[in-house]
Amino acid sequence: MTYSEAKIRAAKLREEIDFHRYNYHVLDRETVAPAALDSLKNELFRLEREFPTLITPDSPTQRVAGRPLDKFSKIEHSEPMISLFDAFSEEEMCAWEERNDNYLGRRFRPEYYCELKLDGLAVSLQYRQGLLVRAATRGDGKIGEDVTNNIKTIGSLPLKLRRPTEKELIDLGLDKAARTKIGQLLTAGVIEIRGEAIMTKAVFEELNKKYARQGRPLLANTRNGVAGSIRQLDPKIAAERKLEFYAYDILLDGYNRGETIATRAQADKLSALLGIKTLRQNRVSVDLTAVFAFYRATEKNRARLPFHIDGVVVKVNDLKMWPVLGVVGKAPRYEMAYKFSAEQATTEVREVVWQVGRTGALTPTALLEPVKVGGVTISRSTLHNFDEIRRLDLKINDTVIIERSGDVIPKVLTVLKNLRTGREREIFPPKVCPMCGGEVIKEKDEVAYRCADKRCYAVNLRRIGHFVSKGAADLEGLGPKLIEQFLTSGLIKDAADLYVLRKEDLLGLERFAEKKADNVIKMMADRRVLTVERFIYGLGIRHVGEETAALLAEALRLSGKISIPELIRAGQKFQADDWEKMSDIGPIVARSIVAFWHDKHDLELLKKFHDNGVTLRATASGSTAAALAGKKLAGRVFVLTGSLSGLTRGEAKDKIKILGGKTKENVTRETDYVVVGADPGSKYEQAKKLGIKILTEEEFLQIIKG
Ligand code: IVH
Repeated sequence: MTYSEAKIRAAKLREEIDFHRYNYHVLDRETVAPAALDSLKNELFRLEREFPTLITPDSPTQRVAGRPLDKFSKIEHSEPMISLFDAFSEEEMCAWEERNDNYLGRRFRPEYYCELKLDGLAVSLQYRQGLLVRAATRGDGKIGEDVTNNIKTIGSLPLKLRRPTEKELIDLGLDKAARTKIGQLLTAGVIEIRGEAIMTKAVFEELNKKYARQGRPLLANTRNGVAGSIRQLDPKIAAERKLEFYAYDILLDGYNRGETIATRAQADKLSALLGIKTLRQNRVSVDLTAVFAFYRATEKNRARLPFHIDGVVVKVNDLKMWPVLGVVGKAPRYEMAYKFSAEQATTEVREVVWQVGRTGALTPTALLEPVKVGGVTISRSTLHNFDEIRRLDLKINDTVIIERSGDVIPKVLTVLKNLRTGREREIFPPKVCPMCGGEVIKEKDEVAYRCADKRCYAVNLRRIGHFVSKGAADLEGLGPKLIEQFLTSGLIKDAADLYVLRKEDLLGLERFAEKKADNVIKMMADRRVLTVERFIYGLGIRHVGEETAALLAEALRLSGKISIPELIRAGQKFQADDWEKMSDIGPIVARSIVAFWHDKHDLELLKKFHDNGVTLRATASGSTAAALAGKKLAGRVFVLTGSLSGLTRGEAKDKIKILGGKTKENVTRETDYVVVGADPGSKYEQAKKLGIKILTEEEFLQIIKG
């Protein structure tokens, strides 16, 4: 992106962010999901980092929360209520630790205190001489709103701080001086407790049920429930909302951080001793590895918590280090919000492709600038049909909000039209079928565009199924269901596309967990090299079965490693007569073979295999009748059953072929040997019945070895 493009983009992003932020923070109205807003802010942050001169003093990256509402009186915070930096991955957390090393000029691997990140409203409570005198929202970070009356309706919040016993303070590890200071502050000083006002999930459900009965507007979520009750003027409503408050910080007036209380863990315990609720889940972690374990366990357990959380706040436990590390921009260096992955994000649409479904219907898919949503990187999203594109008013290069929930396919929710630059391109329905190049039709009363060739999808599905089959590329596990899923989701158009599948593409599919995706990707990477005969067989040339493919491969006289262009050159040298000279190949087969080597579409597919990294190797030797004479297994028919431990079925078949033998699927009187692995099937019984020679795996290995 050039500087001037970045400048325009940054200005538009700011406008958009400000609009949503104002609604969210000032009017308590959610015009966009917080995760999507985060996405926009992250993009702006990245742009400003790349082009620092773009930073303006009013940029949303430079400030904290919204303006206070006019209806509340204002309160100046004794110490600014700042914000937190966000991290979404272990890498980002490690980068934070390293940044702190660099800042301090030494290796600093501190102990951390991990706290749940509550999703409510930040509130600062001031206790003077132990009495609650005022409560303020964050506001713009410097000046907040006086919400004392509403906060006082939180039943669990003490209006007077509890005075801990001497023993309790000793057990907490405080020395005499610290104990005295706390006593003094409770009698004559100021203690400020900061924390989060929240609404539990149960209260939220209960209230909404009641509101529904009464025909009142429902609360959108628990955060709105809190904000809406604390930031309105009638304390009765606040009382009805049954809010709670959890402390996450404590400021002792006149003392620096670390002076009285040494650690964040101690501070948390002190809050509890003073009578303010703290989260019992919070824990000390000795290093980042322990932090990651805490994060994972918390994320797993999240649904079972009585309140909503949106991550973990990781804080340097040693409070003396807080002023040393200090604040940079809008947030401190000594703590970090390690947030759960967002389920919504913003990204840009790069292209729209059309895929052919089972019924020939053409479905549009948006190819996206890759973006992380709900923990996985997404690069495509379904658009359902052309009407949906029209409904969204989507254009190529638009910025969109996408959503991914659970394992469901990600979808485009909205287009952020304000971010348009004029470089957007209209999307048109497809003119030709992307699979077969044939005509596209649209019935009057249907939304879908279709390929006019009714068999188009089925033919293609069969072709790909044939390519992956055991006798061909032998791509284990890629059954018809998976191929169908890849085809209908538009990930592949042909077998060559299988070799460039990416993990992020698979994770965007339904029922595709991380492990399954890894397995598919690994297998494709492991099986990029095919023997010439298997490859030729897999191409599905008319009239060319396994045997003929082997003949062809031998006739081409290729040896060692072979590239697909070499194969094409070798194949094109042959005329129909040349093929016909070979035994077993008649004129029809010969014509079909020659046609293949010159067909535009077939050659394009071959080139695509090459471009996608497929290479070939010659089998040790071919299997024509002449070559077979004198070979160890010449003319012998094998059937394999059960699973072999020393080699794959494909390898066993190749060996048999090299030695002049054949493998067949079923046991008949023509079968010479049945090789029996572990857990054999009915073929074993059949062999016994017909009195056919049975070989154990060991015996078989002996035969093919010697
Ligand atoms: S420490 C510098 N600890 O998250 C601000 N914040 O995204 C001090 N929050 O404004 C924040 N749980 O309202 C801290 N255990 C926790 C928290 C927490 C929720 C909120 C807080 C803050 C926001 C920042």
